[in-house]
Amino acid sequence: MHHELILILDFGSQYTQLIARRVREQGVYCEIVPFHQSLERILEKNPKGVILSGGPNSVYEEDAPKVGGGFYERIDAPILGICYGMQLLAKDLNGNVSPSERHEYGHAKLKVLSGQTQLFQNLPFELDVWMSHGDHVVGLPAGFHTTATTGDIVTAIENEEKRIYGVQFHPEVAHTPLGKEVLRNFLFGICGCKGDWTAKQFIKEEIEKIRQIVGENDNVVCGLSGGVDSTVAAVLVHEATGKRQTCIFVNNGLLRADEFEMTLALYEKELHLNVRGVDASAEFYRVLGGISDPEAKRKAIGGKFIDVFDQEANRIGDVKYLVQGTLYPDVIESVSLRGASVTIKSHHNVGGLPEKMNLKLIEPLRELFKDEVRLIGKDLGIPEEILQRHPFPGPGLAVRILGDITPEKVELLQKVDRIYIEELHRFKLYKEVWQAFAVLLPIQSVGVMGDFRTYEKTVALRAVTSTDGMTADWARLPFDFLQSVSSRITSEIRGVNRVVYDISSKPPSTIEWE
Ligand code: XMP
Repeated sequence: MHHELILILDFGSQYTQLIARRVREQGVYCEIVPFHQSLERILEKNPKGVILSGGPNSVYEEDAPKVGGGFYERIDAPILGICYGMQLLAKDLNGNVSPSERHEYGHAKLKVLSGQTQLFQNLPFELDVWMSHGDHVVGLPAGFHTTATTGDIVTAIENEEKRIYGVQFHPEVAHTPLGKEVLRNFLFGICGCKGDWTAKQFIKEEIEKIRQIVGENDNVVCGLSGGVDSTVAAVLVHEATGKRQTCIFVNNGLLRADEFEMTLALYEKELHLNVRGVDASAEFYRVLGGISDPEAKRKAIGGKFIDVFDQEANRIGDVKYLVQGTLYPDVIESVSLRGASVTIKSHHNVGGLPEKMNLKLIEPLRELFKDEVRLIGKDLGIPEEILQRHPFPGPGLAVRILGDITPEKVELLQKVDRIYIEELHRFKLYKEVWQAFAVLLPIQSVGVMGDFRTYEKTVALRAVTSTDGMTADWARLPFDFLQSVSSRITSEIRGVNRVVYDISSKPPSTIEWE
């Protein structure tokens, strides 16, 4: 379907996904594969170009990740090595790499040595670049020459005839302001891409693909959460299958204030989805009764969700497919150099459903990043209020109420959350943060109101910046804003006399408190 493909071989860099995003932003489709992908698989995909990512290793370590034999000879598309990728290709082609006396981390000034090189075409002779390396190339492989330096360090090399290029700096990060142009030169000038990856093209192809899969008499079911991903997936599948798709939107009693009613109305009236709203709040509260342990809460909610969804889907009859809003970051076979990761939190979406119901999956967004999903959603006519909505966890407010869950605590937190979100909009800060929410703490503290002593609850406000939710930093929200939220919460909501702001990043904390 995709006419042009750039393959990114992942050597474990924290920036690999960023490379993919930068490539896609230029309208070129790309995929990330692990460095040990077989050469046959790579050749089958017939890429227009290959990028070797950075990575935490040193190329001369014994178990350093490498490409398979015959790689450079058999791939006839251009190759660009970034950081570790450049060192690897230099070593593999009989050049020399060694540890630097001076490690380079952060900003550096790069000097382009010749205007002839295509990689730096139409760029100034001096560039601000971002470095993050301990090793560097000290001996060039035969046929290569240096095209840029930073101080006495070789920062870019190439063999124009073989179309192999290497850069020591990171063109994919925002701190290399013209990095995008360097990647552009590689994609368009060197690989000859045209840029045929657009939202409209994607939608058209995806609708055709779904029509080919789903037969005239097949029924499709889709779980909606009110969030961006499931909504975009549902609307896309609706375009392809119409009424054969039934959407199920479950109220677990743990959503934000009025969210169930408002979102359901939007699904029905504005997006014209075939949707069933199921209010199962009471059942969820029942299974959550008395549970305080975070994992036990997650398991109870996940299990109940599957029961409710299964029951509802069974009423439709003859369902063959389940739509999921899985995104690309969830499916990338990322290179973990620390072994399989441990379970930090058992995430609950519709996981477990396909097996239980014996359904085949349709995942129309599995090649997309979140920002691309928003673009597709915009083209599909989905309102901004859904597209810009902050991520919201499947177990909802249950993981934002520490300790056991009661309808009263949920109601209290909903009120606090409403004020916080309203103020974020009022101060035009909502879109500035990845996520913002309030947490109800299981502690009481002493306060004073008028002439009276109070002994009431504490809420914590959390707001983070992030690009993918994997790492996050606490948002530096203005004090004026925090002051306004805090005073509104304590004056408008009975039962809360203290507001604190969470200043923890992830890691070591996580975004949600449970
Ligand atoms: P943590 O708390 O693990 O959260 O740092 C990372 C991101 O994931 C969201 N989150 C969830 N999303 N089901 C979801 O769909 C879940 O069970 C779940 N738990 C956390 C969280 O809100 C943040 O955006």
